[in-house]
Amino acid sequence: MPTVAPIRDLCRHLGQEVAIRGWLYGKRSGGKIVFLLVRDGTGLCQCVVEAAQTDLFATAVALGQESSLELTGLARPDVRAPGGVELAASSLRILQNATDYPISRKAHGTDFLMEHRHLWLRSPRQAAILRVRHTLIRAARDFFDANGFTLVDTPILSPGAAEGAGTLFPVDFFGAPVYLAQTGQLYLEAAAMALGRVYCFGPTFRAEKSKTRRHLAEFWMIEPEIAFAELPELMDWAEGLVCAMVRAALTERREEFTLLGRNIAALEKIAPPFPRLTYAQAVDLLRDPQLHRQLEQELEADRVRLKECIAELAGLEEQHTRARQGWQQDKLAQQVADLREQIRDLEAQVAQRPVHIEHARNFVWGEDLGGDDETLLSRQFERPVLITEYPRKIKAFYMKPAPGNPDVVLNLDMLAPEGYGEIIGGSQREDDLDALQKRMADEGMHPAPYEWYLDLRRYGTVPHGGFGLGLERTVAWICGLKHIRETIAFPRLMGRIYP
Ligand code: 4AD
Ligand code: MG
Repeated sequence: MPTVAPIRDLCRHLGQEVAIRGWLYGKRSGGKIVFLLVRDGTGLCQCVVEAAQTDLFATAVALGQESSLELTGLARPDVRAPGGVELAASSLRILQNATDYPISRKAHGTDFLMEHRHLWLRSPRQAAILRVRHTLIRAARDFFDANGFTLVDTPILSPGAAEGAGTLFPVDFFGAPVYLAQTGQLYLEAAAMALGRVYCFGPTFRAEKSKTRRHLAEFWMIEPEIAFAELPELMDWAEGLVCAMVRAALTERREEFTLLGRNIAALEKIAPPFPRLTYAQAVDLLRDPQLHRQLEQELEADRVRLKECIAELAGLEEQHTRARQGWQQDKLAQQVADLREQIRDLEAQVAQRPVHIEHARNFVWGEDLGGDDETLLSRQFERPVLITEYPRKIKAFYMKPAPGNPDVVLNLDMLAPEGYGEIIGGSQREDDLDALQKRMADEGMHPAPYEWYLDLRRYGTVPHGGFGLGLERTVAWICGLKHIRETIAFPRLMGRIYP
C-alpha cells in the first residue's frame, strides 16, 4: 500500500508512488490523455491518465465532477501543474461516481449558489475565504493569549437587551421569554472585575431588518474587556488586535489572497498608528466641499467606465453566441456574467453617489453615521480609522460620557479602509452607580434584570472598557469581498435560513 499524502505535501514525495484521496474538481481530455484535477482540501493536483492504460482511461473519462476517489500514482515535477507536482496515475479507486453535480464551472447567480451553499463551499474561492477566517480567529486568540487575557464564555440566552430592544430574537425559556445574546459585554464586565483582562468569542444575534452587504442576523464577535482601561488604552488595544490579525493573514494566506484577487499592497499598509478622529471631526470631514468635489470626480469617472463596460458587453455577448467549443463558451459565459455584475455595481454607484454626496453635504451633528457615511469616511484613509466621542443620544446606555462634555460618550468605532465601514464598536463604560442608574431611567429601562450589573458599580467599581470586533465584517474587508454572506460557512440573513 503506498502512503496516502495530502496534496499540499506531494512535493515531498517526488519520485515515489503515493495515493491521494479527494474529489474530482475538473477534467480535461486531449485525445490520448485525460487530466483529472483532484482536490482534497489541502490543494489541487493534476493527475494524468494515458489512453494506453485502457481500463483506467475509460473509467477516468466517465468520472463526473465531485466524484469521490482514491488515486495512486507516481509523483513527478511538472511546472505547468498546480502546485508544481503531477501524478502519473496507476490506479483509481472510486468511492462514488457522482453525476449531475449542480454547480458546474459555468456562471451561476448568487441566489442559486446560496441555495447550494453546502456544495458551494467546495469551490476554491469559498475554501480560501474559510481559511483566511480560520487564520484571523487564531491570530486574535494568540494576541489575547500573549497579552494575559483569559477567555470567558458568556451566555447565549439572556434575560434582556444590551444593544437596543429593536433587534432582539426572542426564545421560549421554559415558558418565559428570553433572548439570544446581542453581545457578551455585560457579563464580560463582571468577569473583568474578577480576572482583569478577559475576552469572549462567540455567536451573537441581531434581528436587523436590513438586507445590506454588512448585516448578518447571526455573526461572531470577538470582545475584550479590560479593568482599569480608559479610552486611549482601548484604542491601542483595538489597533494592536487588528494589526496582529492582518499580519497573520499576510504571513499565512498569500496563496488565498492571490486566488481571491485581493490587493495585497493595501493590506501591507495596515500598521500603527491608525488615524484617530472625533465624531465632530468626522462630521466636518463629511461636510467638507473638497470631499464633495472629489466624489463628483469619481462619479464622472464611474459614468465613463459604465459606458465602456456596456460597449464591451455587447462585444463579448456576440463572441459568446459565435463560440463553438464548450470550454470556450464556458469561459465567455463567465466573462459575460462578470461584466454584467460589474455593470450592475457601477449602475448602483452612479445612481447612489449623488444621494450620498447630498447626504454628506447636509449631515447634521447628532445623526448616527450610516453605512454610506462610513463608506465615504473610510475611503479617505489607507488605514483603519478610529472615531470617538459620538453623541450620547445615539449610543448604548452603558457608555461613559466624556468628562466636561456630557453630550458625547467615550466610545470608539473603528472603520476599515476601502469603504468597508465599521468593524469595531466599543467604549469606556459608565462606572458610577448614580450616573448609570440615571441613564437607565432616562432610557426607560427596568432596573430589576440589571441589578447584578449595577452591583459591579456597588462593589469596587473601577474605570474599565472594551470593544467588539465583528469577525465577518473583518473577513469581508481582509478578503476584499463585496458582501458579508461569503464570510461564514452558513450565513443567517433576513430571508435566508436554508441550508
Ligand atoms: O457596535 P456593536 O453593536 O457593539 C457591541 O455590541 C458592544 N457591546 C461590543 C463591546 O463593546 N463589547 O457591535 C460590534 C461589532 C460592529 O462593529 C460590527 O463589526 C459587528 O459587531 N456587527 C455586525 N456584524 C454583522 N452583522 C451585524 N448585524 C452586526 N452588528 C454588529
Ligand atoms: Mg456599533
